[in-house]
Amino acid sequence: MYNYYMPTRIIFETNSSSKLGEILENENKKSVLVVTDKGVLNAGLLNPMFQSFDRSNIQYGIFDEVEPNPKSSTIRKGVQKLSESSYDAIVGFGGGSSIDTAKAIAVIATNEGEILDYEGVGKIVNDPLFLVAVPTTAGTGSEVTASTVITDENTLFKAAIISPKVFPNVAILDASLTLGCPPGITSSTGMDALTHAIESYISKQSNPISGSIALHAITLISNYLHKAYYYGTDLESREKMLEASMLAGLAFSQTRLGNVHAISQSFGGVFDIPHGIANAALLPYVMKFNAPACLTEMVEIAKAMGIDVENESGAKIAEKVVETIVQWNQEFDIPNNTKDLGVDLAEIDKLIADSMRSGNVLVNPRLTTAKDVEKLIRDSYEGKL
Ligand SMILES: [Fe+2]
Repeated sequence: MYNYYMPTRIIFETNSSSKLGEILENENKKSVLVVTDKGVLNAGLLNPMFQSFDRSNIQYGIFDEVEPNPKSSTIRKGVQKLSESSYDAIVGFGGGSSIDTAKAIAVIATNEGEILDYEGVGKIVNDPLFLVAVPTTAGTGSEVTASTVITDENTLFKAAIISPKVFPNVAILDASLTLGCPPGITSSTGMDALTHAIESYISKQSNPISGSIALHAITLISNYLHKAYYYGTDLESREKMLEASMLAGLAFSQTRLGNVHAISQSFGGVFDIPHGIANAALLPYVMKFNAPACLTEMVEIAKAMGIDVENESGAKIAEKVVETIVQWNQEFDIPNNTKDLGVDLAEIDKLIADSMRSGNVLVNPRLTTAKDVEKLIRDSYEGKL
């Protein structure tokens, strides 16, 4: 048994952000709040969109206070900004943090209380304000998912708010926006997308639709991430990576994720470690832990990654997958241990509790206890693979 629900209109076209004015005009929108960060704004990435707003007589305001691992206080500031004018749409423009912040502001625009009141699954009552998501990195897939992750600044817990109502109305996938993404961000966000595709594919809730999409995302990432890293201005690699991150987002919007995201979100909340890097460093440890529970899937993942599987046992193939991820991390200058990321084991009890609180542990293919999470955190800290 499975359901597949995905209401977002996807527009995949290079330079399509310069048509957003027209798209909003056709939706009878007159005034939008653009949610972004200062880096993206100062880089001029929004200019073609602003020009299209002017052509279509769409008024706009800008909220540019998004930070990595966005906090509930930032959502409050964004909601305050929203209340200063009569906006009828929101555009989240940037990395996953900008899109997640825009989603949260759109929810509170039409629902009572604060965003953290809606932690969990299916708690949102009213349809959020009309939302357009425009990613500038190829990683989070947030433009096509039903969740937003917001950090509670009092407890440093990254809370997931999940509801079919959170899917953006429109996703604009314009690869020209990712051409200037620096190599370090290209690789860490690309590894986040790889983690989404792998965790979705082996999730207990994987189904034939999400699984096919996830495998294709793994193939695209394996074929194009390195080129995008080394040759960032190559449009084809950027398009394929943006497509891959969107596909991985589609897949995990249906299945949730697994132990990598459960643990990495605790690292993000407590130590503010960048999400993609935390995932990349944890991925080999969790894959090794999961392998005995999903050897058949590991063979398919290996094939999608271009790994030679001829005359090898499932266990050996799983080892090769883990080794390949370790090699990619080395190539991308991502540590293969979590100590170097700034994890402090003095916080281990909180890290375990926060990881177990994440719903992602429940769909991880191998049954996972708090003791298992502790071992994964300790082993990854010490680089004991
Ligand atoms: Fe992620």
